Amino acid sequence: MSDLMVNASSLGISQHTHIPPIRPQECGSEMVRVGVIGYGYWGPNIVRNLHGQKNIQATMVCDKSPAALARVRRVYPSIETVSDPKEILRSPDIDAVAVITPVWTHYELAKMALEHGKHVFIEKPFTSTSAQAEELINLAACKNLTIMVDHTFLFTGAVRKIRELTESGALGDLYYYDSLRVNLGLFQHDVSVIWDLAPHDLSIMDHVIRAEPEAIVATGEKHLNGVEDVAFMTIYFPRNVIAHINVNWLSPVKIRTTLIGGQKKMVVWNDLVADEKVRIYDKGVQITSGEGIRDLLVSYRSGDMWAPQLEQLEALHVEMSYFADCITGNKVPFNDGHAGLRVVRMLEAAEESIRRKGELIRL
Ligand SMILES: NC(=O)c1ccc[n+]([C@@H]2O[C@H](COP(=O)([O-])OP(=O)(O)OC[C@H]3O[C@@H](n4cnc5c(N)ncnc54)[C@H](O)[C@@H]3O)[C@@H](O)[C@H]2O)c1
Repeated sequence: MSDLMVNASSLGISQHTHIPPIRPQECGSEMVRVGVIGYGYWGPNIVRNLHGQKNIQATMVCDKSPAALARVRRVYPSIETVSDPKEILRSPDIDAVAVITPVWTHYELAKMALEHGKHVFIEKPFTSTSAQAEELINLAACKNLTIMVDHTFLFTGAVRKIRELTESGALGDLYYYDSLRVNLGLFQHDVSVIWDLAPHDLSIMDHVIRAEPEAIVATGEKHLNGVEDVAFMTIYFPRNVIAHINVNWLSPVKIRTTLIGGQKKMVVWNDLVADEKVRIYDKGVQITSGEGIRDLLVSYRSGDMWAPQLEQLEALHVEMSYFADCITGNKVPFNDGHAGLRVVRMLEAAEESIRRKGELIRL
């Protein structure tokens, strides 16, 4: 909850109080009809971004809380509301289910949705264990259904630009990814700060570094409610690429800053500023060696800094439309179940390392 409470503005999320009802003429045969389960903190952002799309729409929302359903009806009078997920699962008018509930419920709800022949859009982190993720991936494959894991940041203008820079080789060989993702609260009841906040960085790293991590070291401490509220992770990738993530629910200030260092260029991404979120520095170090260590010649390059134009579309809007395209076009999303599983594996390894007081865990 905390990350996007915090990140709502950084993901370009605006707060609308009234949204017009769905127009029937928009419902063509290529329209993907979604039943959303969970209308707590994050669910409203999903429903809002399904609204008014050309290829996808929310037709039913389920929440066990009557107050949540009353909120749905107030804003979207045309959306059916139900309190039992089975009503969504059994409906022949629903093509896909969006699972926007706490992590510990993901596996069971997604499994039931797949068993009922529905495509699945599911929140991060995908599941509580990698075994659950593997089972869902296999089930979806057997039934030729799509799983998309909501790694929202991958659809932001900032991450799309960073991916473009790494993919084109503009940064040169990557050296490091270093992220600070801290704020005060909000505490989750069922997961630690690692499972709550680190999936953002792990999914971004997976998307931009595009290499399987080799090992993880993590440390963390519990201070208040029995789960780690401060944690530090180091992830080792092939070719000396190293990543560090600092996640913290006990910070007096909110910071969302990531440094990405490459041999040719370096990036500073400050997600909290409105302009110039991504700055690219033409800075670097070059070493020319002579005979021995004393003959090392170090030269520093300090060129221009520029801030590229970023796409301004709301990330979730782009993601929901992409989900529909993947279903109707029978395409595999890049944020599929396997991408979700890779993140869950890193989370499990980090948790194991924390339990063993910072031991190196090989992946
Ligand atoms: N992608 C992001 O950036 C982002 C941001 C915030 C949260 N999330 C994820 O979204 C998910 C939900 O988080 P949240 O903060 O909205 O949680 P929340 O507790 O605020 O809301 C969950 C809602 O689901 C309902 N619910 C739970 N189990 C249910 C069931 N079996 N049937 C019907 N309704 C049920 C609850 O009544 C509640 O209204 C989590 O997985 C979280 O990690 C993702």
